[in-house]
Amino acid sequence: MSLSFLFLLSVALPFTVAAPASSASCTGTISSLSDVSAAVKCSTVNINAFTVPAGQTFNLPLIDGATVNLLGTVTFGEKEWEGPLFQVSGNSITFNGNGNTFDGQGAFYWDGQGGNGGVTKPAPMMKIKISGTFDNVKVLNSPSRVFSVSNPAKLTISKVTVDNSAGDAPNSKSGGKAAGHNTDGFDVSTNNLIIQDSVVMNQDDCIAINKGSDIVFQRNTCSGGHGISIGSISTGATVSGVTISGNTIKNSDQALRIKTKADATSASVSDVTYSGNTATGIRRFGVIIDQSYPSTLGTPGTGVKISAVNFTGSKNTVAVNSSAKRVEVNCGKGACTGTWDWSALSVTGGSAGEIVNFNGIQNFSQ
Ligand SMILES: *[C@@H]1O[C@H](CO)[C@@H](O)[C@H](O)[C@H]1NC(C)=O
Ligand SMILES: *[C@@H]1O[C@H](CO)[C@@H](O)[C@H](O)[C@H]1NC(C)=O
Repeated sequence: MSLSFLFLLSVALPFTVAAPASSASCTGTISSLSDVSAAVKCSTVNINAFTVPAGQTFNLPLIDGATVNLLGTVTFGEKEWEGPLFQVSGNSITFNGNGNTFDGQGAFYWDGQGGNGGVTKPAPMMKIKISGTFDNVKVLNSPSRVFSVSNPAKLTISKVTVDNSAGDAPNSKSGGKAAGHNTDGFDVSTNNLIIQDSVVMNQDDCIAINKGSDIVFQRNTCSGGHGISIGSISTGATVSGVTISGNTIKNSDQALRIKTKADATSASVSDVTYSGNTATGIRRFGVIIDQSYPSTLGTPGTGVKISAVNFTGSKNTVAVNSSAKRVEVNCGKGACTGTWDWSALSVTGGSAGEIVNFNGIQNFSQ
């Protein structure tokens, strides 16, 4: 290295590097909504415990590469409105929940009707529009749907806990039904997403993959709800390249489900692999692939093509309880295609279901 080069470095670096860094490499601290606009200009954002005023979104539009540290409980004030309660956006973000909680105070809203009527409920509670990582967050008592994920590039969500179990009990407004309703854990319409090592206790789908590709859902635990779902698939939606592996599904209506709308057209579901999933206490259907949504096992539509749905790799073990059906496949004529390898599926208990309009399933009988 020549002397003149060293001299250039020592002179040039402070000017070229320090100027842009000084505006971003600060730490912003949020202890109320009024702190947000200044804090999000920083590369580190610390969130202290605070209450978000009712009827407002806690919105965090982050700079690229930012790190967020949740350091206490964020509680959302109670009000009938559309939401969302929390939204975060940005590229290459590191979001550390540190085991801390976003509390949606769902009991204020729950009336057994979810999004179908009654009280207006903020939904989704948590809108995630980042790439990078989102870890170690707890979400307690969501009014209705919990996470909506639409990441701009690859995102890995790990060790998230959704605890809506308090919504299992009826309340004075729910007419004897579970007070929590439509409390989907993760609603996903996106590409390049991994959700892993998380826990969802709720009253609806653990995850609902509505469209997208390259989606992995692994080593999660789902309980009390409707199990792991692809769909419901609407007109024009494509789902491809989904891996669902190593999950535990407990005390749920279904374990593993694909649901497509009867009236949907120009849509497809392909390359779905289930591996090493374990289910117990399944109340209605062990595995159900149904093209008649919103009916269940009604007249199937033919506008959604389904192909390459496989149970391969480690064994999938599904135990259904006595009044449940083991496996139902309700395809529209010609809509399910190819050969599907179901060699790693074992379903016990209950009674056999039917496989309608399709004979491409190999290595499986019930
Ligand atoms: C079916 O499973 C549920 C848990 O999902 C359980 O509460 C219920 O008692 C079971 N019913 C029967 C008939 O086994
Ligand atoms: C699913 O299984 C079929 C039949 O064995 C095979 O042709 C196809 O490549 C498999 N698809 C995936 C995504 O593994």
